[in-house]
Amino acid sequence: MFALRGIHAGYGQVPVLRDVTLAVPDGSIVALIGPNGAGKTTLLRVACGALAPWQGRLELDGEDHAGRPAHDLVRKGICHIPEGRGIFRSLSVRENLVMFAAPGTEAEAVERAVDAFPRLGERIGQTAGTMSGGEQQMLALARAYIRQPRVVLLDEVSMGLAPAIVNDIFAFLLRMAAEGSSLLLVEQYIPKVLGVADYAFILNRGRVTFAGQPSELENESVLSHYLGAEPVTPAVAAGA
Ligand SMILES: Nc1ncnc2c1ncn2[C@@H]1O[C@H](COP(=O)(O)OP(=O)(O)OP(=O)(O)O)[C@@H](O)[C@H]1O
Ligand SMILES: [Mg+2]
Repeated sequence: MFALRGIHAGYGQVPVLRDVTLAVPDGSIVALIGPNGAGKTTLLRVACGALAPWQGRLELDGEDHAGRPAHDLVRKGICHIPEGRGIFRSLSVRENLVMFAAPGTEAEAVERAVDAFPRLGERIGQTAGTMSGGEQQMLALARAYIRQPRVVLLDEVSMGLAPAIVNDIFAFLLRMAAEGSSLLLVEQYIPKVLGVADYAFILNRGRVTFAGQPSELENESVLSHYLGAEPVTPAVAAGA
C-alpha cells in the first residue's frame, strides 16, 4: 500500500496542502479530482519526492519515505508522469525508451513498449517532440510501463487529446492496473476517471473534502457540492 498521511506542504511560506491523507491500495486505481489550484499537481509532486512535505508521512508498505529525493523513490517503483509528459522531445522514441530500461534489458524494454503501443513501433526512430500529442502521451506511459512500476502517478493524461485517443489511453491504464501497478490519476475528465477508479478523492483548497467510492459521485449535485461549486443544471451546461 502506498499512502500519504497528514501531509502539509507548500511553496516558500505559502501553504498548499493541509493535512492531506490519501491511500492507494495495491493494484487499485485512485482518482484525484478538484478545482484548478486545489493542489493536485502539488500532491503528486510530494508523492514522487519532487517536493519535500513540511509535515506528514509518505508511506510504502508502512515505511516512511517523506523527504527522500525523487531518484530514491523511482528505485522503489514510484513513477511520476507529469503534466506535459516529461519525455525528452529532442530524442527519438527508441532513445526515450532505452533511457528508462534497466541496463542490459534495452531490447526487451523496447519490445514491451511496442507491444503495448504498436503505434510507437511505427515511429521508433522519430524525434519524440515531432509526434502528435496522443503519441507523446503513449510514449510517456510506455516509459513508465517498461519499468513495471509499483505506483504510477499521472497528471492530466487526457489533456488536449481527442476522445478516441483518450479511450485508448484509459484502456491501457486498466491494463497496467490489471498487471499489478497501482495508479493515482489526477484528471479533469471526471466521468472518464470515475468510470475506471476503485476509489475517489476530491481536493479543494488543499484539503480532502471527499474520500469514498466513485459511485457516490455519480449524482451531479453531490459532485458539485464536494467540488465547492454550485450545481450545474443540464440546460445551463448545454449553454441554453
Ligand atoms: N512552484 C510554485 N511556486 C509557488 N506556488 C506554486 C507553485 N506551483 C503551484 N503553486 C501554487 O500552489 C497552488 C496549487 O497549485 P497546483 O498546481 O498544485 O494546483 P492543481 O490542483 O494542480 O491545479 P490545476 O487543476 O490548475 O492543474 C496554486 O495556488 C499555485 O499557484
Ligand atoms: Mg495541476
